[in-house]
Amino acid sequence: MKQITLINGDGIGPEISEAVVKIIDASGLKIDWDIQTAGADVMESEGTPLPERVLNSIKRNKVALKAPVTTPIGKGFRSVNVQLRKELDLYANLRPCKNLPNVKTKFDNVDIVVVRENTEDLYAGIERQIDNDTAESIKVITRKASERICRFAFDYALKNNRNEVCVVTKANIMKLSDGLFLECFRNVACDYPQISKREILVDNLCMQLVQNPSQFDVLVLPNLYGDIVSDLCAGLIGGLGVAQGANIGLEYAVFEPVHGSAPDIKGQNKANPTALLLSAIEMLKYIGENSYAQIIEKALFKTFSQGKFTKDLGGNLSTKEFTNLIIQNL
Ligand code: NAI
Repeated sequence: MKQITLINGDGIGPEISEAVVKIIDASGLKIDWDIQTAGADVMESEGTPLPERVLNSIKRNKVALKAPVTTPIGKGFRSVNVQLRKELDLYANLRPCKNLPNVKTKFDNVDIVVVRENTEDLYAGIERQIDNDTAESIKVITRKASERICRFAFDYALKNNRNEVCVVTKANIMKLSDGLFLECFRNVACDYPQISKREILVDNLCMQLVQNPSQFDVLVLPNLYGDIVSDLCAGLIGGLGVAQGANIGLEYAVFEPVHGSAPDIKGQNKANPTALLLSAIEMLKYIGENSYAQIIEKALFKTFSQGKFTKDLGGNLSTKEFTNLIIQNL
């Protein structure tokens, strides 16, 4: 039986994890879930929000499914999510955003893949307090990280029959850091003559995305712009409840939704498990369980086609009711 690390997370994490495990189990696929806890509660009991046992579990199993973990804002410990990506060198954050059946959105034909660099930029965590009234964050962009994320984006485009890769920067202002990212894109692009290339500034991209998103195919971005733009793209396909993601490195992969722990709806049986379920479906494809991935995806899409949704998508189903319907549709 395949062993996979499962990080249940906090906030709505445990509710949506339970739903997804139940659906996978009902599909007939047997997975030995290696359940690991992380975050604020673990910080209290073990002195760190991301203990070695969690990292060791992922290193052993190579693959993890992760529900969101809360990060304190403006104080407290460093994000578990950022640490995980760094410790395991999960350098590519992949966020496919495609319209779902029957989910009403402003635009049809959205099919964008956001490839976000995951290890550096302003998320390198290098900050200092200069004095009471001044703080500094350092933006780190390296040739190594920039070239490998651009190569990942082009390889993804080739493998998945995509036509264009568009690089997103603010290289007109940050001439050195974003300028280096752009230079790396141009260098790597020479190895992929069959793929079209495009360059755009991040502010223009945002305007174009909310006016005419179907013009975009694969986007490759440094960490911060990637974080923001992937939430924007999530909004284009129905919101955070349906936006899947994956963090991929050379050795390990962690599949997780784009959304956070949604403390505002925690424990209310309201959370939409779709984003975690779609992330799990991608995980099943990644480990070669394509037939189960298809069975589960079909059941989810059938449920949508029946007009059955959780509240965030305008429906009236609770997390549990929605989960049970997907199971009935398997
Ligand atoms: P959030 O994504 O948790 O919530 C934003 C809004 O979307 C809320 O109104 C929430 O109710 C709604 N929402 C999110 N997921 C939903 C779902 N599955 N079903 C229905 N509604 C959903 O973002 P927020 O509030 O900014 O962050 C909360 C916490 O999550 C923070 O501590 C943040 O650091 C953390 N976070 C963790 C992430 C991770 O573990 N990968 C990613 C993003 C944020």
